[in-house]
Amino acid sequence: MANRKDDHIELAFESNTPVSMADPRFDYNPIHGVHPEEGQTWQVRWGKYDFDYPVWVSSMTGGAIRAKTINQNLARLCKDYSLGMGLGSCRKLIDNRDSIADFQVRKYISTQPLYANLGIAQCQQWLKDGKESYIREIMSITESDGLIVHINPMQEWMQAEGDRIKESPLNTIKRMLDSFDFPIIVKEVGQGMSYTALKALSQLSVEAIEFGAFGGTNFALLEMLRDKEQERNVFEPFCKIGHTAEQMVQSMNQILSEKESLQCSQIIISGGIKSFLDAYYYLSMSNVNSIYGMASALLAPAMESYESLQKYFTLQMQGLLLSKSYLTVRK
Ligand SMILES: Cc1cc2nc3c(=O)[nH]c(=O)nc-3n(C[C@H](O)[C@H](O)[C@H](O)COP(=O)(O)O)c2cc1C
Repeated sequence: MANRKDDHIELAFESNTPVSMADPRFDYNPIHGVHPEEGQTWQVRWGKYDFDYPVWVSSMTGGAIRAKTINQNLARLCKDYSLGMGLGSCRKLIDNRDSIADFQVRKYISTQPLYANLGIAQCQQWLKDGKESYIREIMSITESDGLIVHINPMQEWMQAEGDRIKESPLNTIKRMLDSFDFPIIVKEVGQGMSYTALKALSQLSVEAIEFGAFGGTNFALLEMLRDKEQERNVFEPFCKIGHTAEQMVQSMNQILSEKESLQCSQIIISGGIKSFLDAYYYLSMSNVNSIYGMASALLAPAMESYESLQKYFTLQMQGLLLSKSYLTVRK
């Protein structure tokens, strides 16, 4: 006790918070809420799935050196906490089977939702060549419940060896929906998308839209950094273009309020979610059925060990539940 009181005196000098540090997004009410209990969940029904927490593990890796361990740990997390997960791009399963084990995580994730992932350019090319069987093969190898298609024209353009988009992605998505009966989620990869794009997608029977918003990992920038050729650096200003998760939530709310018939009004809010507090903010703002997606934040603990990942995740969920008890978004 005496020690603790000494600490308080010592640390009080270092614990001054300048007014400018106050997070302007929330009202804090300490008098109505209680602390979350051990093991408390935040149940959501998202589409046909029941989750214990409103979290999606966003598409990341496969075919990289540590991909197998990362994917297995992420899949275990989804099973233990009833979450859903997207695999990283599965294109390489067709070119080369060496990395097959990286993508075969069904036994780790059990019956929780697992989605394969492909880029729009690849889908376009395979549909054009009559290679729908490649996509079915990927679904079967990965035992996926559905497919996430990432729409990434800026990334492809910035990438020295990138593919070219030869048909509007919207048309390709429509053709995908006609060709396959498994659920399809559409996402960006770090630049988000406009109201107009979101509205067009909401009018299709896609399972969900994942933001991949601006403000987190940005794949156009990432490709630029990989590229040693000076000449492509001329496109660098494109890396600063995009829509944040906040803007995209507002766009989706607006689309919903317009009361036109929507086929899809389910979202995964992702891209730049740095912590539970950002997530809580966006989830509270959204009028659409929402969960949130995390990618890069999970990478380091997933690479380290399952225990590190579990620890990181449970602390994040405690933060989310504490937010729910004591914070409301300022209108
Ligand atoms: C290492 C890494 C690999 C990724 N690979 C893919 C991919 O193959 N397909 C995809 O759709 N998105 C991919 N992404 C993008 C993420 O799914 C997500 O949209 C983006 O990273 C923004 O989320 P974050 O800010 O939480 O990282 C990748 C992200 C990371 C960090």
